[in-house]
Amino acid sequence: MAEGEGVRRRDFIEIAAVSAAGVAGAAVLIPLISQMAPSKDVLAESTTELDISAIQPGQAIKAVFRKQPLFVRNLTPHEIQQAEAVPIDTLRDPQTLLERTKEGHGNWLVTMGVCTHLGCVPLGAGEGENRGEFGGYFCPCHGSHYDTAGRIRKGPAPKNLEVPSYVFTSDTHLVIGQESA
Ligand code: FES
Repeated sequence: MAEGEGVRRRDFIEIAAVSAAGVAGAAVLIPLISQMAPSKDVLAESTTELDISAIQPGQAIKAVFRKQPLFVRNLTPHEIQQAEAVPIDTLRDPQTLLERTKEGHGNWLVTMGVCTHLGCVPLGAGEGENRGEFGGYFCPCHGSHYDTAGRIRKGPAPKNLEVPSYVFTSDTHLVIGQESA
């Protein structure tokens, strides 16, 4: 064996051992991480608390609820009027704004940010985003237009944006995922 070859071989063995340990380490890490993720049951019952005090009339925010986008919008009196002026029997998924909001908080529209066609995230909650032909939300994937009550008005989506269960715990705080008492 030439001088130096033994050292090189040892280096190689050590490197090989280290990388084997590295692989084993990674293999252990993955089950640990997946154990840390909430189970489906836990996720299905989870709630999200939101402070809505900073949302001005005409503004909306995007939040996350059970790993899905959620929109909270503070409707202006004009947007409320627009929603209320629509004859219900002309709607694809007939619902009044009143039915889609909470008593005493008719200006707060809380919906999932998931288009009911194929699940894209509609535009309209972010500042300056396209709100579509009816001033609510617009899904650019295939052109669904939702109105200021989050109701489907034009395009392929079959249903209004889903209103999740939620409660007002004060005038400025919501708990999404909690059923009304
Ligand atoms: S996913 Fe929204 S229009 Fe198709």
